[in-house]
Amino acid sequence: MRHLINFKNWAPQEIKSMINEGIKIKKEPLKYELALKQKTLAMIFQKTSTRTRVSFETAMTQLGGHAIYMDWMTTQFKLADIADEVKYLSRNVDCIMARLKKNADLTRMASASRVPVINGCDDRYHPCQAIADLMTVKEHKGPLNGLKLVYVGVHNNVCNSLIEACTMIGMRITAVTPIIHKPAEDKDLLHKAEKTGLYHATLNVGEAVKDADAVYTDTWVDMELFFDPRFKQEKQERIEKMMPYQLNRDLLGESNAIIMHDMPIHRGYEIAADMIDHPNSVIFDQAENRMHSEKAILLQLLE
Ligand code: CP
Repeated sequence: MRHLINFKNWAPQEIKSMINEGIKIKKEPLKYELALKQKTLAMIFQKTSTRTRVSFETAMTQLGGHAIYMDWMTTQFKLADIADEVKYLSRNVDCIMARLKKNADLTRMASASRVPVINGCDDRYHPCQAIADLMTVKEHKGPLNGLKLVYVGVHNNVCNSLIEACTMIGMRITAVTPIIHKPAEDKDLLHKAEKTGLYHATLNVGEAVKDADAVYTDTWVDMELFFDPRFKQEKQERIEKMMPYQLNRDLLGESNAIIMHDMPIHRGYEIAADMIDHPNSVIFDQAENRMHSEKAILLQLLE
């Protein structure tokens, strides 16, 4: 059974294929209108979402299938064993996409499932986002091999999946991450990335973005912690430490790099407001591409 939890069991060619298929499907969506006829995707959310929910649900509709939205708190997932619930669920649906708080729960879910499980973002990885991101880079900058992406922000799930995907397909990636979000720490992933010679880490953000083809940032505080009173002090400390790393005109004034953010955006924090609508910004293309690339992911797993 094939799942998409991260890219560990995926081949570089398969990642490239999902990126290229996303571009192809975007150009000729009607060609795929019956590709998943009679197929059903269950979408389970333990955390909030705009793009992941909309993109997967719309993707299923446009592929001729159906998607069921399941809020963790209003289903029996809240009170039962995750494996039992998934053993049942995977007898009635063809695929499961889950956004869970913990990667360990997602792994349990995948082990119990009869159908493919897709990671819709957990505390360690966000592989669907990385496919949409690289599709967007390719649309704007051409063949990905040798291009340089600079990630500036807190080292989190998005950063992990970008490092993993970029280094597997021959892209260079530099991480400027003064803070590591502990749950996202994956030493094996970084060790593997370092061995490719394509991954570098630095705190010299000015130097890092000089020759970048893409500069990327993300929220400094994960969605589940944003309004958590227990995280209030840590949130304030992060803002103070991260402010010198904000994407703004001072940092990117001379750069031709495309400006990327996976959204939701916290204007005036990780990115200055005028960078969001800057001519080099591809942020809304990136968000739109979630849907086209989700189609490619679903077809890869279900066809
Ligand atoms: N980037 C992303 O996953 O968006 P949502 O949190 O809105 O799904």
